[in-house]
Amino acid sequence: MMKFDEMLAERTQYCGEVVKSYLPGTESEVPEADAASEDAREIEEIYGDRKAYCARVIEAMNYSVEAGGKRLRPLLMLAAYRIFCEGSGDGFTQEDEDIVGPFMAAIEMIHTYSLVHDDLPEMDNDRYRRGQLTTHAKYGAGMAVLAGDGLLNYAYELVASTLALEQDPELRERMVNALFILASNAGIDGMVGGQCADLMAEGRGADVGEDELMYIHTHKTACMIESALMTGAVLAGAPEEDVSSLYMIGEDLGIAFQIRDDILDVEGNAGELGKDVHQDDRDNKTTYVSLFGMDKAKEDVRAYTDEALELTDSLSVSNEEVGFLKQLILELAGRTK
Ligand code: IPE
Ligand code: IPE
Ligand code: MG
Ligand code: MG
Ligand code: MG
Repeated sequence: MMKFDEMLAERTQYCGEVVKSYLPGTESEVPEADAASEDAREIEEIYGDRKAYCARVIEAMNYSVEAGGKRLRPLLMLAAYRIFCEGSGDGFTQEDEDIVGPFMAAIEMIHTYSLVHDDLPEMDNDRYRRGQLTTHAKYGAGMAVLAGDGLLNYAYELVASTLALEQDPELRERMVNALFILASNAGIDGMVGGQCADLMAEGRGADVGEDELMYIHTHKTACMIESALMTGAVLAGAPEEDVSSLYMIGEDLGIAFQIRDDILDVEGNAGELGKDVHQDDRDNKTTYVSLFGMDKAKEDVRAYTDEALELTDSLSVSNEEVGFLKQLILELAGRTK
């Protein structure tokens, strides 16, 4: 069996490739049509207009996604999908990739848009992300807003076009359910809500209590992690109880992940993280570390991680993919980037 580190590196690369293959401007993205047909003229017009007038926003969209990052959300989605598709006996096939791939790309586009906007001068005002200048530092704030908007919309265009082409009614239904999970966890009752509370808490210091901080952490971060796990499982046709378990696993993992992010802002290494450190203190953010202290923050990363691992054991299936997910959860608790 392959070692976990190698497998993680391989899967991360694979997720990056899947995501990139769905970005605007890639060759595979241009639909095929008979040279003399009406479709061909339409395609030429769209792609010609893109080149002439909006190449800049496409460049800015791709700049942030191609920079990389851990690709955690697609990784989790893929793992959840694989946990439940293993039973078919064929393993993970091209057909599986065609089902889950667009959703993996969509969640990474949505996540990346959230980072592009999070870094804006009017939000966290950061200059480095994923080892390079942030999108606004390179393209200006206006173009960064548009690049984020572009990524968010493109994610749903991609999912909608996948859904429209799906002929199998059962698969279509799974995709509709996954789309709803994806959208609702990214929106006002999910990540956007968390980002709103995060912004409203800025500078209020001791006035921000535990309930408010937990709302921020669960919504700005855990929702997208829950979404990744749940959509992967739903697309593979997992039983409802397992989807519920994955929601709880995602919540614990997401909280642990954000506490670790708060810790790394204090004692991480900027080079390794690919983003500046000590930014939360500069922005007067209330974080898990500022509220509870470093020792309790570290203790609670372990506690939430243990809870997530325990829940993983309660899934109705137990296979190598569950083992991979558990190792990934464990790895994230001690991550340095
Ligand atoms: C950063 O997310 C924002 C948080 C939710 C803490 P990641 O740490 O997953 O960032 P990338 O995708 O690896 O760049
Ligand atoms: C951001 O949280 C979460 C998002 C939804 C983007 P942070 O603001 O702590 O993330 P970093 O530290 O900038 O990556
Ligand atoms: Mg922020
Ligand atoms: Mg930030
Ligand atoms: Mg942070």
